[in-house]
Amino acid sequence: MSKTTEIEKVKKDITSHPLDSEQAVESFRLTYLSRKGIITEMLAGIGKAAPEDRARLGKELNALKKLATSRFEEAKAARSSEKASRAAATDDPTLPPPPLPTGSSHPLSQTLEEIKNIFYRLGFTIADGPELEDDFHNFTALNFPPEHPARDMQDTFFIRKDELNPSRDLVLRTHTSPVQIRLMKEQKPPLRAIMPGRVYRNESITAKSYCLFHQVEGLYVDRNVSLADLKHTLITFAGHLFGKDLKYRIRPSFFPFTEPSLEMDIWWETGNRPGQWMEILGAGMVHPNVLSAVDIDPEIWTGFAFGMGVERITMSRFEIDDIRLLYDNDIRFLAQFP
Ligand code: PHE
Repeated sequence: MSKTTEIEKVKKDITSHPLDSEQAVESFRLTYLSRKGIITEMLAGIGKAAPEDRARLGKELNALKKLATSRFEEAKAARSSEKASRAAATDDPTLPPPPLPTGSSHPLSQTLEEIKNIFYRLGFTIADGPELEDDFHNFTALNFPPEHPARDMQDTFFIRKDELNPSRDLVLRTHTSPVQIRLMKEQKPPLRAIMPGRVYRNESITAKSYCLFHQVEGLYVDRNVSLADLKHTLITFAGHLFGKDLKYRIRPSFFPFTEPSLEMDIWWETGNRPGQWMEILGAGMVHPNVLSAVDIDPEIWTGFAFGMGVERITMSRFEIDDIRLLYDNDIRFLAQFP
């Protein structure tokens, strides 16, 4: 059979090939147009034809390919519009719409929400203060003497002096304790509040520490507030947050603004890591010097205060082992905490 009669035959086959179903359209494509299809192979065979025939063959084959391609495209379009009209016919406008994708709140926000709820039930209100603080509220009023090495406990970001008041040094607050001072200056006891907020420390960034993090400060000032009240409050709080079989310990510690001072650790055991003690908060009885600095008579009033790290608590609750994950805003990470 000469090449030309072969082409004629294929042309006939193309025109008569059924195209009335999705499978038929696909078999058409495979037979003629795919990489191993008849037309592709014929085109590849041009090189073997007699040189004087090549130009004509090329033309004829290209026309054939055009024909097959246009039949295929037409059939495909017809199939899909048929499908669409079939779908439209079965569309039920009374069905509820498909649900919209929703985000979820950040694991830090989830923890903070829970902490706030627990203290709300214990009768605490919420207060806040500025992140750009002055030396007086962040240190001096909290019984850090000037030049005292206790100021080095917290690596401070110092900000330029306050231009309106050059004697006032500005810092990014290193803890939420300055809000205690602001609250006690504004309101007189009895006082019972928590003070959540962001704090900053000039530390090197590692899996365990970041240049900013969140604390929740707590303050309770009334007549006859005792260390037993503090212990009871902390244990009740931790039991609500971590569950009944929580294992904790309370250790003596030091802060200039509390006396005595303590720290609370919880036993942290997750997945395959060995269990370990993790410090979640510092606390103590408000130092009489602090009360005096805000004109509250320490002979009449006593109080306790505590400050906890929200990141630490979040990392233990959700088994997160790198604090930086909490600040990357990587959706693959965040989507794990619906
Ligand atoms: N402000 C302390 C800190 O940042 C925590 C603390 C708060 C300790 C209140 C005692 C009382 O580490």
